Amino acid sequence: MYLILLGAPGAGKGTQAVELSKILKVPHISTGDIFRDNIKAKTELGVIADSYISKGKLVPDDVTTNMVDDRISQEDCKNGFILDGFPRTIAQAEALEKILGKTKSKLLKVLNIVISEDVVLRRLSQRRICPNCKRSYHLEFDPPHGDICYSCGAKVVQRPDDVPDVIKQRLITYNESTKPLIDFYRSKGSLVNVQSENDIDESLQNSLYALGLKGI
Ligand code: AP5
Ligand code: MG
Repeated sequence: MYLILLGAPGAGKGTQAVELSKILKVPHISTGDIFRDNIKAKTELGVIADSYISKGKLVPDDVTTNMVDDRISQEDCKNGFILDGFPRTIAQAEALEKILGKTKSKLLKVLNIVISEDVVLRRLSQRRICPNCKRSYHLEFDPPHGDICYSCGAKVVQRPDDVPDVIKQRLITYNESTKPLIDFYRSKGSLVNVQSENDIDESLQNSLYALGLKGI
């Protein structure tokens, strides 16, 4: 399956992508995670990305699109992938169509994760992430073991962009640049909406149902 997860910051894209990737047996590709790995490794891409991410702005389209093109050209993506955080602009969506070509573009499914801004704020302010295996935690709804990741044993951290001023800017950026993708994909008939204000398991079940995968 060629799946895009669309949704505001904190909607639960990463959380759901991890589970959907296991179920669908296709790789989970998070542009945010790739940028953060590059920031950590202090690569040239990381330096560029950090200058935007730390302000809650989008990394330029050409940089992001080339990075995704490289990643989805790899062997493990030949039977599908889950894109988490890409595309985020109409220009990126159009570039993706060119990369995929007509046949694969028609197979694209877009899961739009719907959640209110109040819930976003509650989720992001209490999120912790594992910098090693990338698992997301929530201090109340899905806490780590003390400050240790259950999956790999690394110490969990707070993302530097999960602070009130940057969260506010990320929401502005989402409303201006990414929300128009909802109409873009609706007009192509590839969009399904899913409510995600329930707990994590229920939200995943809703997603499976919306994608016609209930019972898998
Ligand atoms: P990215 O890392 O993609 O951040 P984001 O879109 O802001 O989304 P988040 O990762 O914050 O949220 P999420 O939806 O994955 O939620 P999560 O599952 O963690 O991008 C970061 C930055 O990189 C961008 O701001 C931009 O600068 C740059 N960038 C990335 N892609 C780009 C692109 N294509 N173009 C240009 N720039 C780009 O869940 C959040 C919390 O809620 C967690 O604590 C989780 O445990 C909890 N939770 C999740 N679901 C539930 C639930 N159902 N019930 C209760 N708690 C839940
Ligand atoms: Mg994420």
